[in-house]
Amino acid sequence: MSSLMSNYGRFNVSFTHGEKAYLYDSNGGKYLDFASGISVTNLGHNFEPVTKAVCEQAKKVIHTSNLYEIEQQSILADKISKASFGGKLFFCNSGAEANEAAIKLARLYGNTIHHGKRYKIISMYNSFHGRTYATMGATAQEKIQKGFTPMPAFNQYIPFNDINALKQAVSLNDTCAIMLELFQGEGGVMPVDVEFLKEIRKICDEQDILMILDEVQTGYGRTGYLFAYELFGIEPDIMSLSKSIANGVPMGAVVAKDKAASLFTAGTHGSTFGGNPLACAAANAVIDEMMSNGFLDSVKEKGKKLKEYLNNNLPKECTIKGEGLLIGVKTPYIPKDVADCCLKNYLLIVPAGNNSVRLYPPLNICDDDLMKGAEIFVSVIKEMGV
Ligand SMILES: Cc1ncc(COP(=O)(O)O)c(C=O)c1O
Repeated sequence: MSSLMSNYGRFNVSFTHGEKAYLYDSNGGKYLDFASGISVTNLGHNFEPVTKAVCEQAKKVIHTSNLYEIEQQSILADKISKASFGGKLFFCNSGAEANEAAIKLARLYGNTIHHGKRYKIISMYNSFHGRTYATMGATAQEKIQKGFTPMPAFNQYIPFNDINALKQAVSLNDTCAIMLELFQGEGGVMPVDVEFLKEIRKICDEQDILMILDEVQTGYGRTGYLFAYELFGIEPDIMSLSKSIANGVPMGAVVAKDKAASLFTAGTHGSTFGGNPLACAAANAVIDEMMSNGFLDSVKEKGKKLKEYLNNNLPKECTIKGEGLLIGVKTPYIPKDVADCCLKNYLLIVPAGNNSVRLYPPLNICDDDLMKGAEIFVSVIKEMGV
């Protein structure tokens, strides 16, 4: 019997190593990776600049703690701030921790700037923000919260993309933040409506409410933009990042405009490991690659190509969603069954929500591998019998 807890429903395969868009199992099986560890290894496996940065840093020093200055952390913060909306950064180790920090900042803002009158955080049904108590509380899905109630009392939920519900929810004047994903990844790659997003931005500006964008899954090039908010012509007040920020070395980050960021003073928040030299070495190599000439344009191109192929070749019962290489496909089948059939055909994909799967190839995948994965996926769906 395993000594591991049973909290994961795992696929029956184990990988020994990876190279570019491929993972290899212990029996020599070679799998095309359109999962990327759920949009984590966005630069593929054993990506030379990241591997080199990690190995070199490991030989120097892996960890010192945030008791001391960490040069690589300051350099990374400058790069992300410059590439986003000029905010300040806090580093942690995961998406949930990044959202936890975002929620704490919002509560601090409500308590400090609005004298404790504003404490509620509005989030969306079908969202996913993590598994800690605060982030599970913001995750408005019964299946995630089941067995763990009562949730923290400061959460308020509205249907995604419902402007009337949004207006009603904020009318009570006790809202400190509105939190959302621009594409609900775990929820099935459901896109935000531009009008809904613009209304949130307007309300936040008018009422001094903080807009928190969870870009844990959508950020870092997946949509063909470094951050998905760039697609919509708005900027958040706070943004959470994680997953691909260090291409698989655990890391999370919160970027916040100074009006909120300045409230995190010494002793208000922290993390032992957050932004340690090893993770920062990997993350600096990742952002350098993603900001290099032509990188994001090539993601847009590949996304277009993949979507076009899927649109032309999948049965009409399927619906294709998403942007860039953040692709969701709604099928008539149980998502886990689709992923199982793909696995049997040496293609890794990710189930999403009740009726969709995610195709998340590495962003630097070559065209041949991209189309090979697309062909396997289409043939699997056809074999399943639509
Ligand atoms: C949008 C979003 N937010 C937060 C999280 C939680 O991240 P982590 O599992 O690193 O805590 C996820 C994970 O899938 C996510 O997709």
